[in-house]
Order: sequence, then structure tokens, then C-alpha cells
Amino acid sequence: MEIEKAAMLIRKGELVAFPTETVYGLGANALDAKASRKIFKAKGRPADNPLIVHVADKKMLEKIAHISPAAKKLIDAFWPGPLTILFRKKSIIPSVVTAGLPNVAVRMPENRIALALIKKSGVPIAAPSANRSGRPSPTTAEHVKEDFPDIFVIDGGRTKHGLESTVVAVDGTPRVLRLGAITLERLKRVVPEISIVKSKKIESPGQKYKHYAPKVPLILFNSAEKLKRYAKKNSGMILCKEKEVKKFKNLGNRVIGLGKTDKDVARNIFNELRKHDKGTLLVLGLEKKGIGRAVMDRLERAATRII
Ligand code: TXA
Ligand code: MG
Repeated sequence: MEIEKAAMLIRKGELVAFPTETVYGLGANALDAKASRKIFKAKGRPADNPLIVHVADKKMLEKIAHISPAAKKLIDAFWPGPLTILFRKKSIIPSVVTAGLPNVAVRMPENRIALALIKKSGVPIAAPSANRSGRPSPTTAEHVKEDFPDIFVIDGGRTKHGLESTVVAVDGTPRVLRLGAITLERLKRVVPEISIVKSKKIESPGQKYKHYAPKVPLILFNSAEKLKRYAKKNSGMILCKEKEVKKFKNLGNRVIGLGKTDKDVARNIFNELRKHDKGTLLVLGLEKKGIGRAVMDRLERAATRII
């Protein structure tokens, strides 16, 4: 019923929020320029930051994008799933969706509700994360309602990964434009030469904006020692992996465990960043490997200071 209603709204050119396996998306008909423009307005999103288009099957992809052999290899390995691939766009995709760029970013989500919604709508759905620009991405329907009280949300519970998709380009040198739920290690098993873009020229426009900011200051620490030293002299809530909680006992600070594994931390981090509206967050960073690399990317953007 909810999916039916949402599909009808999409077909009418309205916005709908829906769950994916990564975070909730704020969707509109990707073939409708006017509908897609509403996303930018609702989010307060800069017009030069393009949207990811979500498809339910290969046929839908073929209608909107030119598929290279290199891209096909990634599709076969990772779709449906949290990997967004850049394709040369076909003219059916309005330029507002790609912010005037020649490429369109597309993914096939691995979520029953998202796939059913796209199928019922009969059109690809453009959807950024369903947060107001700059806020942590939403991992529950409640988060979406906080930011957009008037938008229809399909509640699919807590999302599986809690972190956005990885964005890659495979025209020319294969490169990661945004770290995300598919790790670099997994990508390398399929495309050994792929690397993370570090150049000054920003190819994924979203990367240049301030992001994921909680309402309170966040200080990110790269060692437990540094955090301990700081917390001895300053107040603040400590956030770290569960196995590290004991290191910060007896400091007088509240200590919150973010999860057992790096994967758990990835799933919980945005939820935790949204919770606090008082004090300062003192966060112990993860090692930059596996999913920890993507978590650190988000924390570094969210941080007011890195020690
Ligand atoms: O997991 C996800 O990717 C979620 C769910 C809803 O699918 N979506 C999401 O969208 O995170 P958003 O808009 O918050 O982030 C999209 C990222 C931005 O960094 C944007 O700049 C980049 O993808 N992007 C989108 N289209 C692009 C394009 N044509 N060229 C380069 N980068 C693009
Ligand atoms: Mg976002």
C-alpha cells in the first residue's frame, strides 16, 4: 500500500523518501526535470552537486546510459548493491540531474522496498540521501521526518549498511570518487588498478561541501592516547569501538560504544551523530582499511577539529 502510494506520487512529479540498503533517499522521477529540481530545493542542495539515479533492472539502465565493458564488469560483480557507477548519459536524463555534467551516476539498490518502488513507478528514480544539506545521512524513517516533516516516507526500518554507496568512474583510469559501503579491497579484487582520487580537481562535486555535521562540535582523535590526554583536561562525550571503552574508564567522561566491528560502527555512526545536541563529541578514529576507510572519510568531514 505504502509503495503504491509512493509510486503514484513519483509518477505525479512529487518527492518521496524511501529506504535503500545504505541510507534513506529523497526520490523524484529522474526523467522529469521539474520533479528533480524539487529535490535541490527541498534539501537546500547546491545546483552543481549531481544526483544518483536508481534503477531496478538492466533495461532501465540501458535507457538512460551508455554501458562500457569496464562498467559491465562492475555491474556483474556488485549489482544490486551499494556501488554507484558513472556512465555517459543519454539525452533522456535531464541536465539538472547531472548538474550539467556529461556523466550520470547510477546504482541498483539491494533493498526490496526500493526496487519495488522503482518498478511500480516505471521510471528511474533520482535520489540523494534524504537529509538537509550538510546534516548526517538518515538511516531511519525518523531521521527523514526530522529533516523533512512534510514529505511522504516509506518506513523500512534501520538501513543495513548505514553508510552511502561507493562512487566509481571507469572511463579512463578506474577511480573511486567517494568512499562508501563497498570497500576498496573488494573493488580491487575485480579491478586491480583502481585507486582513490586524490587530485585537486574535484570530479565528484559533493566531495567539496561540508558534510555530515552533528549539531555539536566533534573532535576526531587518531589515537587512544591523545584522546585520553585531552579528556583528562576537558569534558566531552567519548565515542569509540566497544572493545576500547575500557581504556577511557575513570576519566569522568561518558563513554559510548559504537559497535563491536568496524562494520557495526559504519552502521551506527550517522545515527549517533544525529542524537546529540549538547556538549562536545570526542571520537576515536578507526584504522583506514576496509570499511574503516569510509567511516574515517565521513568523520573527517564531520569534524570541527582533528587531533
Ligand atoms: O547510498 C547512496 O549513494 C545514497 C542512496 C540514497 O542511494 N545516495 C547518496 O546520494 O548518497 P548523495 O547525493 O548524498 O551523494 C551522491 C554523491 C555526491 O558526492 C555527488 O557529487 C556524486 O555522488 N555524484 C552524483 N552524480 C555524479 C556525477 N554525474 N558525476 C560525479 N559525481 C556524481
Ligand atoms: Mg548525501
